[in-house]
Amino acid sequence: MARRYSGICLSLVVPLATACQHLIPEPISGVSSGAMLKIRDTPLTNLTENEAILSNAFDAIEIETWSSYYTHGDHIAGRNKSMAQWTADKFTGYGIPASLAEYEVLLNYPVSASVSLNYPDGSKYDAQLFEDPVAEDETTTYPDSIPAFHGYSATGNATAEYIYVGKGHVDDFKRLLQLGVDLKGKIALAMYGGPFRGVKVKNAQANGMVGAILFTDPITDSTQDGASYPDGPARHPSSLQRGSVLDLTKYTGDPTTPGYPSKPGAKRTDGHEVLPQIPSLPISYRDATLLLQALDGYGVSGKDVSRDGWVGALNATYSTGPAPNTTISISNIMSSSITPIWNAIGIINGTHADETIIVGNHRDAWIIGGAGDPNSGTAVLVELSKAFGELLKTGWKPRRNIVLCSWDAEEYGLVGSTEWVEEYAPWLSETAISYINVDIAVAGPKPGAASSPELRTVAQDIMTKVKYPKGDFKTLYDAWYALYRFRLDDHGFGNLGSGSDYTAFLQLGIGALDFSMQGSRGDPVYHYHSNYDSYHWMTKYGDKDFVSHTAAGQFLTLLTYHLADDALIPFDLDAMQKGVEQWLRNFLILVNSFSDLEKLQRDINFSGLHNAQKNFTQAATDFTAWTNQEGFRSNDTAVSLANKKLRDFQRAFINPEGLPGRSFYKNVGYAPDVNDGYSAQTLPGPTEALRNGEDRVAARAQVEITIACILKAVEILKVG
Ligand SMILES: *[C@@H]1O[C@H](CO)[C@@H](O)[C@H](O)[C@H]1NC(C)=O
Ligand SMILES: *[C@@H]1O[C@H](CO)[C@@H](O)[C@H](O)[C@H]1NC(C)=O
Ligand SMILES: *[C@@H]1O[C@H](CO)[C@@H](O)[C@H](O)[C@H]1NC(C)=O
Ligand SMILES: *[C@@H]1O[C@H](CO)[C@@H](O)[C@H](O)[C@H]1NC(C)=O
Ligand SMILES: *[C@@H]1O[C@H](CO)[C@@H](O)[C@H](O)[C@H]1NC(C)=O
Ligand SMILES: *[C@@H]1O[C@H](CO)[C@@H](O)[C@H](O)[C@H]1NC(C)=O
Ligand SMILES: *[C@@H]1O[C@H](CO)[C@@H](O)[C@H](O)[C@H]1NC(C)=O
Ligand SMILES: *[C@@H]1O[C@H](CO)[C@@H](O)[C@H](O)[C@H]1NC(C)=O
Ligand SMILES: *[C@@H]1O[C@H](CO)[C@@H](O)[C@H](O)[C@H]1NC(C)=O
Ligand SMILES: [Zn+2]
Repeated sequence: MARRYSGICLSLVVPLATACQHLIPEPISGVSSGAMLKIRDTPLTNLTENEAILSNAFDAIEIETWSSYYTHGDHIAGRNKSMAQWTADKFTGYGIPASLAEYEVLLNYPVSASVSLNYPDGSKYDAQLFEDPVAEDETTTYPDSIPAFHGYSATGNATAEYIYVGKGHVDDFKRLLQLGVDLKGKIALAMYGGPFRGVKVKNAQANGMVGAILFTDPITDSTQDGASYPDGPARHPSSLQRGSVLDLTKYTGDPTTPGYPSKPGAKRTDGHEVLPQIPSLPISYRDATLLLQALDGYGVSGKDVSRDGWVGALNATYSTGPAPNTTISISNIMSSSITPIWNAIGIINGTHADETIIVGNHRDAWIIGGAGDPNSGTAVLVELSKAFGELLKTGWKPRRNIVLCSWDAEEYGLVGSTEWVEEYAPWLSETAISYINVDIAVAGPKPGAASSPELRTVAQDIMTKVKYPKGDFKTLYDAWYALYRFRLDDHGFGNLGSGSDYTAFLQLGIGALDFSMQGSRGDPVYHYHSNYDSYHWMTKYGDKDFVSHTAAGQFLTLLTYHLADDALIPFDLDAMQKGVEQWLRNFLILVNSFSDLEKLQRDINFSGLHNAQKNFTQAATDFTAWTNQEGFRSNDTAVSLANKKLRDFQRAFINPEGLPGRSFYKNVGYAPDVNDGYSAQTLPGPTEALRNGEDRVAARAQVEITIACILKAVEILKVG
């Protein structure tokens, strides 16, 4: 379900994980620097001996070999144990002992499906629920190609008139109700983009709708110019987006074992909280055009609905409908079972057994290919294991444990990583320093990342050590600078919401970073979750020479190396402190929007929150002053004490109760926005309590919980 990092939204202010999925702004040229980011248009920062060994181990030709391996066989979740074993064997072969961690989880696979448009005159049109085979793109012609379907979708049939519901955001439905459009008993036709697809389907169901059809609109593409794939960079008209329709805003992982690992014999729930009850299917824009056109002239026209992003690029008015007696028939037959999945886990023991860095990528894809999502990351992870193998050969041993994870079943709902985190939660809570995630390593040339604040400075420093392979930039840092120089608050790093495997870690109080290189406006269209996310697309349009793969891999490797081996863990507590300040700032925008602000302030005393934030700032400042003291780094006792504090303060932000109504989400700083699924909501407890009506008692309780967590972090960081 990897969130797609799309270059369409051009906001320079909103963090990268937003409603428009990943934000990668356009490079800005000809504007002089005035930002906090400092241009360093210098040659590469010199590498230390170990850094050079790691960096030089990267070989684009070899990465291409791994990419080719992963993208020529069915590896949908739970269906390719030999690929899992192959991955573990690679780690082991490079000197990193690895084995498979197996779980038994609920998955479903497509059996048969149809979508037809029935015109009032009795004629009908059947949507094509697979992509056109393209001769030059071998894997699109495989007989075992995976058809259009949604992971965890409900088995069912429906025939009904249908309504175009925009992107299926809760506000789109509000607008439809306001316009008097009757939704009950109808089928929803929704555009991809904006909220996570599971949220769209949930909203349709909550409005009494009986099925959902989701289409990709070219309006959200990085380019609509030129020929379409395979002859040019534009989208193939038959491409469609598979993906999970789990409601991940409630919890992730196996729907039937919330909060505990899916081991054989585990007790199971029916998963009804997160599984949809209405059938849904994805279709292409070629087919969506006909469905939209049949609504033209009926209901309210797209122009009059007057919502941002409602009208797309197809030849239709994007009217709401319904068109009387024009119906859609959906049939969706899925086969569900409890199925084994396999994570491949490799471990390098550090000299400090109580400190651990985890690096992970998922391996499963919706299609035979998956050259971008996720196997650009998988190819990079294998090469990363090779690089550490080279360093191990010199007799090097890291200070901290390094765990390499190749996850299964991410696409269905972060299943492999969530179950593993649930199994090892006690050990992770005791020892984890950070989790580094790479899902789509490469789908284009522009770097992007979301992270916990403490990791941002070290990540930028590492970027100065990585050669940028494309354009005029010398280093990855220079490319980053061009994209994000005006992002003063966060230096271009968005906050983590959900959509990939960092989620369970973050919700256990383990800071994380998620890195990706993707396209933005003008770059070739990346066919997300489509058969055309193939090895052939990657070698023709995405990253011909695998040089971006190399850069992404070198970045992740050097970052892992420093987190695992620097004497003092390279966290930036000043950045963390600014992060906490941002939590409060975002929350106060909401508070100040209340018309009865004075009464609200009597109902809820916010000054405790201010005080806690100020105390955190003080603790962070004192801590940094302490570690910058003359002689600090030569005092092993002090360094070791500081590292324990840096490891443990993150856990203070965990509220064991979790959010009301979604107890899986325990981090008081960050949860996925409940109406979006991908983007981050800061201070979710108090924010959601205030937003969801007038329950100020609940809001006050959430404010108190947040204060207590921040002060616990202060206690842990406190020097002396
Ligand atoms: C980097 O290495 C080069 C060549 O070895 C050397 O001339 C230069 O001074 C070094 N730069 C720094 C900043 O250490
Ligand atoms: C598993 O993946 C490998 C590598 O892509 C492929 O060769 C093999 O056919 C796949 N196995 C199955 C059962 O699909
Ligand atoms: C758009 O659709 C209308 C009818 O719905 C048709 O007359 C027109 O030719 C179409 N335009 C294009 C560019 O296909
Ligand atoms: C829709 O069909 C019904 C019967 O099938 C018919 O009575 C009705 O007039 C039709 N409505 C329109 C607007 O064509
Ligand atoms: C659902 O539709 C399919 C295809 O039209 C049909 O074969 C099947 O019998 C239907 N199932 C039910 C329960 O109506
Ligand atoms: C790593 O450490 C664990 C726990 O102490 C131990 O069980 C394991 O054998 C060690 N692995 C290696 C390769 O030394
Ligand atoms: C609000 O709380 C602060 C301490 O957190 C306290 O000093 C102050 O008196 C309280 N204000 C009211 C009106 O209760
Ligand atoms: C916050 O810091 C102030 C000033 O150092 C101190 O007086 C106060 O006790 C601290 N509050 C808490 C709850 O730690
Ligand atoms: C080293 O650090 C420890 C812990 O902060 C401190 O107690 C000790 O006095 C320091 N030793 C020296 C020689 O500064
Ligand atoms: Zn993915």
